[in-house]
This record gives sequence, structure tokens and C-alpha cells, in this order.
Amino acid sequence: MTPKLVKVAPSILAIDYNNDEILDKALADIEKAKANLVHLDVMDGKFVKNTSFDHKLVDKIRDKTNLLLDVHLMVENPDNVIDDYVKAGADIITVHYEACKDVEKTLKKISDQNVLTGLAISPKTPVLKIKDYLDAGNVDMVVVMGVKPGACGQAFIPGSAEKIAEIRELNKKVYIEIDGGVTLKNAKLLRKMGVNIIVSGSTIFKSENMKKTIQQLKGKSLFHKILKRF
Ligand code: DX5
Ligand code: ZN
Repeated sequence: MTPKLVKVAPSILAIDYNNDEILDKALADIEKAKANLVHLDVMDGKFVKNTSFDHKLVDKIRDKTNLLLDVHLMVENPDNVIDDYVKAGADIITVHYEACKDVEKTLKKISDQNVLTGLAISPKTPVLKIKDYLDAGNVDMVVVMGVKPGACGQAFIPGSAEKIAEIRELNKKVYIEIDGGVTLKNAKLLRKMGVNIIVSGSTIFKSENMKKTIQQLKGKSLFHKILKRF
């Protein structure tokens, strides 16, 4: 059987997203390069030091692309803003385990509005902390952070890859996304561990050949090219 390709979600945190021309070009480029989702990093300057954008940019991007919108909320008290992102057209809303007062309630607030639920864990949070939510079937996607949340272009923290295998061991169905520090070098190990979605800011937007880079992150090989002709 052809090995399954992973999905790729470019993070627009790596570009000057406030510049319309740059944003439009980036969205067109990633769509052409066959990315699967757009990863949108919302930062409030409280849960993480930096601030980025809010639901207004997500709303604007919804009108500009057909790709799925993968919203990553790095904010304190995400309950207060979930509705804004649902309205803006998010397909997946991810909240941080470390930022929620009542994880179950927050996840329900998302799923009640027919949006997929993501639960992110920062590098210092052990997988076992979210086991109950996985067992209860409240999580559609776990986001394993490969870096300390808050900025792109950081180095991958060793040990994050193994968390993917640990989650897969606990739950066969949940989608697993890796976010932060992914390179063409470590992507192979991440795929081997069982990741389903790779987020990438710097590796994609700094590459000279975006299409090729996205294909490499997906794990596309000659094998896929040849079997496609069957
Ligand atoms: C980090 C963000 C990531 C970041 C990834 O807090 O959640 O999505 O943009 O960027 P790279 O791939 O450059 O680490
Ligand atoms: Zn992110």
C-alpha cells in the first residue's frame, strides 16, 4: 500500500501578514503548492509574550482562500474569544491545555458549533495530562508543540517527536499535529512517529521552491508519483 502522505499547514506568522500584497501572494502560493490548511497563530501578549493578530485577520483570510483554516489560539481564557473565530470561519480551533480553566467546557464550546477541536500541549506538558480528554473523545486533534509557543523560527526541542508516538499509543483515531521547529531534516522522524499534520512557518516561507518543500514535508516520494499512474 502507498504510504499515506501527511497534511501540511503553512503558518503565516512567518510572513508580514499585515501587508495585503504579501498576504495575498502567500495564500495563492501555498494553495498552488498544494498545502492542505492555513495555520493561523493568534497570540495575546499574555499567554505568550508576543502579540500577533485576532479574528479580524482570520475573517479577511476566509474570503481569500479555500484552504481549511487551522486557528491556533495562544491566548489566556480562550472561552472569551471562541465565538469570534467560529464566526470568522475557522475549521479547527485549537486551545492550549495550559490556558484553559476547564478544558472539557472549552472543547465543548468549540464542538457545539460544529468546528473541530484542537488541544495543544506546550513542550513542558506531559502527554498524560490530556489522557482523560482523549479517552472521553472530546479532542479531534492534538497539537504537539515542538517549540515554546510564541514565535516562529525557533529550534525544535528534542523529545517532542516522541510525544507523537505516545499519543498514538493512547488513541488510534485522534489527529496529531506538530507545530514549531519542523525542518526537512526532522520531518521524516515526525512522520515515522505517526504525525498527521505538519505546521511550518520558516521552512516553507524561506524555501526557494515552496512546492517541492511542501511535497518533501508531506513525505512524497517517487513511489507516490509512479503509483499515481495506476
Ligand atoms: C509558534 C507557532 C508556530 C510557528 C511555527 O508559537 O505556534 O505555528 O509559527 O513556525 P516555525 O515553523 O518557523 O517554527
Ligand atoms: Zn501555531
